Amino acid sequence: MTEFKSKIRTIEWIDTFSRMVDQTLFPYEFKYVDIKTGDEMFDAIKTMIVRGAPAIGIAGAHGVVLYAQELKDLPREEFVKKLLEKADYMATSRPTAVNLMWAVEKQKEVIKNSKSDVKGIIEELKQNAIKLENEDIEINKKIGDFGAEVVPKGATILTHCNAGALATVGYGTALGVVRSAFANDPTIQVFADETRPRQQGARITTLELTMDGIPTTLITDGMCSYFMKKGMIDMVVVGADRIAANGDTANKIGTYTVAIAAKYHNIPFYIAAPLSTIDTSIKTGDEIPIEERSHDEVTHINGKAICAEGVNIINPGFDVTPHELITGIITEKGILRPDYTKSIAEAFKN
Ligand code: MRU
Repeated sequence: MTEFKSKIRTIEWIDTFSRMVDQTLFPYEFKYVDIKTGDEMFDAIKTMIVRGAPAIGIAGAHGVVLYAQELKDLPREEFVKKLLEKADYMATSRPTAVNLMWAVEKQKEVIKNSKSDVKGIIEELKQNAIKLENEDIEINKKIGDFGAEVVPKGATILTHCNAGALATVGYGTALGVVRSAFANDPTIQVFADETRPRQQGARITTLELTMDGIPTTLITDGMCSYFMKKGMIDMVVVGADRIAANGDTANKIGTYTVAIAAKYHNIPFYIAAPLSTIDTSIKTGDEIPIEERSHDEVTHINGKAICAEGVNIINPGFDVTPHELITGIITEKGILRPDYTKSIAEAFKN
C-alpha cells in the first residue's frame, strides 16, 4: 500500500499548551490557535473551533492536562480530587461524540493509577495525550488501508460532513479511506455533501481534499439520491460520532437520509471509525444522546437571516443510521460486517 501524505495536523500538544486549527474560520482562513487553559479548551470544543469525534477526543485529553497545570500548587490529594472533577466537566463539553468521554477516561485512568507526585502526574498526563495523538494518526492509516480494499477502481465516493484529517489529528477516517485509495488509484473522486447547517462538507471536506489534490465535487444535501439514480455514485463512506454495540451509528445530521438512499439504489454504505468511537455500554442507537444545537445555525448563513423571523426551529446535530443500512464498519482491526453485535464484540476481544 502506498502511503498518502496528508499535509494537515489538526491538533498538537506543544510543551505547555494545545495548538489546533481554528475550524470556525474555514474556508476563508487556515489559522492555528493556542489553547492555554482548561476552560478555553471546554469552549473550543463547545464552539467547534475543534470538531470531529477523534479530534474532540484528543482536545479533551489536552484539556485535562491544561486543568492539571492550573491545579499544580494544590496538595496531591486535593489536586487529584479537583482534577477528576475537572475531567468530568471537560467530558460534558459536547454530548454525542463518545471519543471525548473515551479520551477523558484514559486521562482519568492515568490520574487514578499514578504513584507520582503532582509534577509527575502532570508529566504522565502530557505523555499520555501525546501517545493518544500519535496513535490516532496510525489508527487512521490502518482504517485507510482496510477501507481502500473495498473501493472499486475509478470509484466515485460520496461522503457526508467532514471525517477527514481535520476531524482527527491527521489523515482522517472516511477521508483516510479516500486518501489510501487515491494513493493507488488516482482515478477515484469524491462527491461531498454540503452538510447543512454547519456546512462541514462545503467548508472543510472540499478544502482538505483540494489541498491534497483529490478531485472533489460539492453537492447540496438533497442531491445525493439524484446522482445515485444516475449511477454516478459507487459507494458511500462516512465517519461516526458514536456506534452502539449493535452497529447503529450516530453521525452528522443527514447521514441517515444518505444511508436510506444508498440502500434503495443498492450502493454500499460504509462507516469508517476507530474502535474508540464504539460505545459497547449501549445496546442500540436509541440510547445515543443527540446534541441539540443553536437555532442560529439554521436561521442564519454568514450572519444573515435566511428565513422568516419567528419561524419554529429544531436543530439536532446528529442522526442515527440503523445497522441494517450499513454494509460494513471500517476500523483499525479490519472491516466489521453484520451481525454487528457479534463482530463488534469480537473486535474488542483481541
Ligand atoms: O459537529 P461535528 O462537526 O463535530 O460533527 C462531525 C461529524 O459528524 C463527523 O462525521 C464525525 O465526527 C466523524 S469524524 C472522523
